[in-house]
Amino acid sequence: MSKAVLIPGDGIGPEITAATLRVLDAAGARIDWVERQAGLAAMEAGDEVLPQATLDAIAEHKVALKGPCTTPVGHGFQSVNVQLRKAFDLYAAVRPVRNMPGIETPFRKVDIVVIRENTESLYSGVENEITPGVVMSMKVATVKGCTRIARWAFAYARQRGRRKVTVFHKANIMKLTDGMFLDCARKVHDEEFPEIDYDTMIIDAACMRLVQDPSRFDLLLLENLYGDVISDLCAGLVGGLGVVPGANFGDDGAIFEAVHGSAPDIAGQNLANPLALLMSAVMLLNYLAERDGAERHHAVAERIKQAYDRALTDGQKTRDLGGELGTDAFADAVIARL
Ligand code: NAI
Repeated sequence: MSKAVLIPGDGIGPEITAATLRVLDAAGARIDWVERQAGLAAMEAGDEVLPQATLDAIAEHKVALKGPCTTPVGHGFQSVNVQLRKAFDLYAAVRPVRNMPGIETPFRKVDIVVIRENTESLYSGVENEITPGVVMSMKVATVKGCTRIARWAFAYARQRGRRKVTVFHKANIMKLTDGMFLDCARKVHDEEFPEIDYDTMIIDAACMRLVQDPSRFDLLLLENLYGDVISDLCAGLVGGLGVVPGANFGDDGAIFEAVHGSAPDIAGQNLANPLALLMSAVMLLNYLAERDGAERHHAVAERIKQAYDRALTDGQKTRDLGGELGTDAFADAVIARL
């Protein structure tokens, strides 16, 4: 039995988490969940938005499945996700994007992994008002940050049998920052992963090529801002945020979560699609299988993946994908196909 932290989150979080756990249980997943709160749910219980007890549990167990958390707009409020990334130095965000059976899009043969650097670039949070009417935001790149994400991405490619890593950049304009990202990626490739194809593309041309023929791309390695934007673009190629899982990795732990938000407009109505969180849970199982050497988790992950693929093939879909099912009914449809 592996232990993992469960953060249901708020908005649709608790509903999709409950549905996901039902599927995991039915598939025979052996995970001992340690439940902790974050986001509005924690604040409503009179605690911090990211309580110390939640941080302690993640520090102890080093892996978590997290539902979405609302970030109220306004000053002085830091998002739970940003805090978690900082607290555990989760520097590699991974989003696998592939065509799903039964979901029609204009694009075919999409099978892309987007790997995003999660801690630097324009998300450094360093912004200044130089003088009234003039503000600036600092783009930060370090050899350490660029090298570790490149090494992580190439190692992922090698382990998963991915053949090609492409870096999107704007080093023709941002010569120092994007230039450093490119230099580090090139060095890591040449010295440590020469067997993997390596390519670079200026990001504007790359965007055009992505929507012309996404099947030509394999693994994308991107700095923070480009990764944020391109990963949503890639999700759009295969049907949207409802069918794309996500994970944030550090050297000493990982947090798995759907990439959509807490969808307050449909919360509590049994309308939300639990698939992206379920897919994230499948990633978590595979991670635990490798970390703990527990082959059983791999088998359970594969069973769940085949079951939701079959459910979609059979037209079992929630409303966001053009179907009729509610959250619970979709989970039932997956369980029936396990
Ligand atoms: P959102 O992703 O919550 O919602 C955008 C649209 O997609 C809405 O129409 C919503 O109903 C729909 N939607 C999202 N997830 C769905 C699902 N599973 N099934 C069916 N429909 C779904 O994005 P929005 O509205 O920009 O953000 C709402 C809140 O979520 C904000 O406070 C934001 O900060 C937070 N958020 C949290 C994230 C996280 O915790 N990982 C990520 C993104 C946003």
